[in-house]
Amino acid sequence: MNSALKIAVFPVAGLGTRFLPATKAQPKEMLPVVDKPLIQYAVEEAYAAGIRHMVFITGRSKRAIEDHFDTAYELESELEAAGKQTLLELLRSVRMEDMHFSYVRQHRMLGLGHAVLCAEHVVGNKPFAVLLADDLMVGEPPVLAQMTEQFARLGRSVLAVQEVPLEHTRRYGIVDGKAIEDRLTQVERIVEKPAPEVAPSRIGVAGRYILTPAIFRHLKQLGSGAGGEIQLTDGIAALMAEEAVYAYKYQGKRYDCGSKEGFLQATVELALQHSEVGPAFKQYLQQLQIQ
Ligand code: G1P
Repeated sequence: MNSALKIAVFPVAGLGTRFLPATKAQPKEMLPVVDKPLIQYAVEEAYAAGIRHMVFITGRSKRAIEDHFDTAYELESELEAAGKQTLLELLRSVRMEDMHFSYVRQHRMLGLGHAVLCAEHVVGNKPFAVLLADDLMVGEPPVLAQMTEQFARLGRSVLAVQEVPLEHTRRYGIVDGKAIEDRLTQVERIVEKPAPEVAPSRIGVAGRYILTPAIFRHLKQLGSGAGGEIQLTDGIAALMAEEAVYAYKYQGKRYDCGSKEGFLQATVELALQHSEVGPAFKQYLQQLQIQ
């Protein structure tokens, strides 16, 4: 197995029903936080971790994602003719010269594990990252780069984890295991979305994974799990019987942009940090008389 991490998989076929009607005719991954679509934050995070090959597991009505990472000829020539160099550079930076893209259609919505399995013929026998664009991660260094560093040392699968409120265990894959180092645990149990009463811990998996290719074999053998879906979590549980899996408590902040509340929090906080609109937006918020 080649141990350098070069490929990232982005499952983007989900319907985004929590954001209807906004997502009726556009992918939820294209919803913008300030001025960038969610998927671009995830792709930039992968790029910052040294990954150049981006694999999207896509579906019907997701064409806008492909277009977003393609060249926009008309727009570029208009901007060029108008001499708007800054905007032109901004546009071109969405697709860095050395990035490669692959698109795989997930024909049926059979769950996250199934989506990851759809990438097998592109990924092959190499380790790969999985990024769920719904989870907008802010960290310095970026969260996936922190994980890549762990992976380079351990050579085994690494899951990003964080502590979650007990009443929220039903939203996450929950892990438990043996503490190895300050931020590192060897996973001994992983359960998809348990009720608080039966959750093995309060350590929840965030939407960033580095997986070894052995996961594919396990995913293929799975039947449907929680919610009638083929769960990535169950594939990881099976993988653990064969090789070590680590949970890494990342440094940074996660915004759950799959929920309206998380999306709004990301919007406000990233707007405050934005070089162009931040200072004025801060003043605006300060003068709001919130009851
Ligand atoms: C997925 C995974 C879950 C993980 C979560 C992180 O759930 O199935 O294990 O904790 O992402 O965001 P989803 O949020 O897609 O329901």
